[in-house]
Amino acid sequence: MEIIILPTPEEASAVAARLVARQICEKPSSVLGLATGGTPCGLYRELARMHSEEALDFARVTTFNLDEYIGLDPAHQASFHYFMAENFFRHINVPPTLIHIPNGMTADVPAHCEAYEQAIKAAGGIDLQILGLGSDGHLGFNEPGSSLASRTRIKTLTERTRRDNTRFFAERDTVPHHVITMGLGTIMESRMCLLLAFGRGKAEAVAASVEGPVTASVPGSLLQFHPRTKVIIDVEAANALTRADYYRWVYQNKPAWQTNL
Ligand code: PGA
Repeated sequence: MEIIILPTPEEASAVAARLVARQICEKPSSVLGLATGGTPCGLYRELARMHSEEALDFARVTTFNLDEYIGLDPAHQASFHYFMAENFFRHINVPPTLIHIPNGMTADVPAHCEAYEQAIKAAGGIDLQILGLGSDGHLGFNEPGSSLASRTRIKTLTERTRRDNTRFFAERDTVPHHVITMGLGTIMESRMCLLLAFGRGKAEAVAASVEGPVTASVPGSLLQFHPRTKVIIDVEAANALTRADYYRWVYQNKPAWQTNL
């Protein structure tokens, strides 16, 4: 795990965007795993800027989103279909046929989840997975207690997550209870993970994920077993880390040959 602490979410998003852009430049047919929520918005804005100003080309990129609410139509303003279209896809040139988001309106959830897993495999697996972190330590919508080997499936949200996400819904108390999410086992098969977390409200979840024991009670902690994960956070989200000074020193004193940031 590499822990990169930057002064602001904007600077952290810019570093994350450079990593995503490099992945696409090195492999134009990259398969990206994408996240929703407040955290990746700055990253998507910066990638859209790179697309319009620096010709970053998404023409051969395939995307798989982590999750979606069950029962929300793609046109619903709180659906992740809507979120992705508004915040990212309409600003770049990724072909609509290469975009994958779980279908929260499916009549057969288990069959849809199995097909989603197969589609990821058929695309060659995820090269780079963007991740946010729930204030309860969840990854995707894998709530505390999720099997560390889980695959794409239905999950039931905790009240805390429903409360955290109320801000995306026009009417309170309409946050669905059920979702489809890639599993922790699915996420762990990504070749590289970028975990982003900003703000004081994420500090405990970041510390538990990075420095705590690996436990299903903190799904983010499973990333300690991932061979190529970068955790990109702002100072506020780094607030509860005990080794923050060490992580800063490591990042600022990388040998010149170590070009992976
Ligand atoms: P947020 O959500 O980016 O809106 O804070 C993160 C998450 O729940 O994974």
